[in-house]
Amino acid sequence: METTSVDQALFSCHILAIPYPGRGHINPFMNLCKLIATTSKPNHLLQISFIVTEEWFRFLKSEPKPDNIQFQKIPNVIPSEKDRSKDLLGFVEAVYTKMEAPIDSILDGLPKPNVILADSLLPWAVGIGERRNIPVASFWTMSATVFSILHHHQLLLANGHFEANLAEQGEELVNYIPGITPICVKDLPPVFHCKYREMLHVILEVVSQLVNKAQYALFTTIEPLESQVIEALQAEIPVPIFTVGPTIPYLDTEFKTNQPCPNYLSWLDDQPNDSVLYISQGSFLSVSNTQLDEIIAGVHSSGVSTFWVARETSSLLTDGIGKRGIVVSWCDQLRVLCHPSVGGFWSHCGWNSTKEGAFAGVPFLTFPIVADQFTNSKQIVEDWKIGWRVNKESENLVKRDEIARLVQSFMDLGSYHGREMRKRAMGIRKIFQEAIEGGAIQANIYKFIQDISQGPRQ
Ligand SMILES: *[C@@H]1O[C@H](CO)[C@@H](O)[C@H](O)[C@H]1NC(C)=O
Ligand SMILES: *[C@@H]1O[C@H](CO)[C@@H](O)[C@H](O)[C@H]1NC(C)=O
Repeated sequence: METTSVDQALFSCHILAIPYPGRGHINPFMNLCKLIATTSKPNHLLQISFIVTEEWFRFLKSEPKPDNIQFQKIPNVIPSEKDRSKDLLGFVEAVYTKMEAPIDSILDGLPKPNVILADSLLPWAVGIGERRNIPVASFWTMSATVFSILHHHQLLLANGHFEANLAEQGEELVNYIPGITPICVKDLPPVFHCKYREMLHVILEVVSQLVNKAQYALFTTIEPLESQVIEALQAEIPVPIFTVGPTIPYLDTEFKTNQPCPNYLSWLDDQPNDSVLYISQGSFLSVSNTQLDEIIAGVHSSGVSTFWVARETSSLLTDGIGKRGIVVSWCDQLRVLCHPSVGGFWSHCGWNSTKEGAFAGVPFLTFPIVADQFTNSKQIVEDWKIGWRVNKESENLVKRDEIARLVQSFMDLGSYHGREMRKRAMGIRKIFQEAIEGGAIQANIYKFIQDISQGPRQ
């Protein structure tokens, strides 16, 4: 019948997915693609071509994924991963200059995509879209709040908070951005502080491209957590915003329970409920050695059981921990956070970790260091009220005694403030569950698929 064939045609859809080839980006991006792939109905004929560098292909190829996601390989942008940490700027430069040409030639050999789904930090993707007349969906991997603050930089300029001087203006309040609750200058993304001036125009260019050149904006957040921000933003910008959920691997949890139980989970099984502080500071290289010493000593003398994840484990850490904890170089973070023994999350507050902790309903001790982490920490502590700050200033050393006291009272389940905070954290967890199980996220994804399936715009 005719209607069937119309439906078929309507939903035949090819997506070219271009993730940023960096650690914090590729996982949420793959999770988003899995969500899109599994949200499409069997008769949708949806295909996702997922661009990966050789290096990422080696990591990702054995991971299970839906059949309608296929990898397309491009050469590495830099010779090896080791060179990346040695020369971060060189890597970023290579991402900006060396990916576009090989992707262009891959496109020559593929059916024309309905949409290019690209990480917002790949500004050349809209160029490919423009040249080939393919709409671009820009995937922003930080919070909507951070995006909105960047977008409203003219307001910061007008109020003297552009290139701000932290020492003098850190405590000044930014209370004039639509949808954003009042925020101190020191909690703004650091690109607004005068010492990061060079980065600022790059990131503002990325934001302006998303607003003015992309046809869709995808935000990895859930509506109820940042609803006022998103509403105010959508009222101002032409590009339609789709919230696509936390893009953390909650889809994988069922599947993973069939795998053998790692040692660290058995260790957690033996601990009392809510007794363990999970500590993941991102890369410890970004904390000074003196600060690291204070953290280890402070946490140790608090007497609280700890689960540390640290990519570069030092004997200082393992010795400092004693019998009351474990140290691992990697773990399945979401699974650990969701374990009933974990009662607190010491975090650098990357957006990915922020979403995972909030999803798990675990309260935070925040220790932001770079980039969007200060703003995420502010949201955790002041907006959702599910955490305390460890470092109130970004520069000053936090001493061991202060850390010990803080950790102790934070993990004290009997205290009034602790109980109230844990209740609120469970409330946030419920909001996540409702968004995921109640179908709001799937509905947004479905709407997105429907929109892009209307065919490339002329
Ligand atoms: C988030 O970050 C943690 C720690 O770096 C990592 O274990 C986890 O796999 C990440 N999740 C996603 C969705 O990227
Ligand atoms: C620990 O937490 C789990 C999961 O919430 C719960 O089923 C169990 O009863 C708790 N155990 C104790 C001793 O409270």
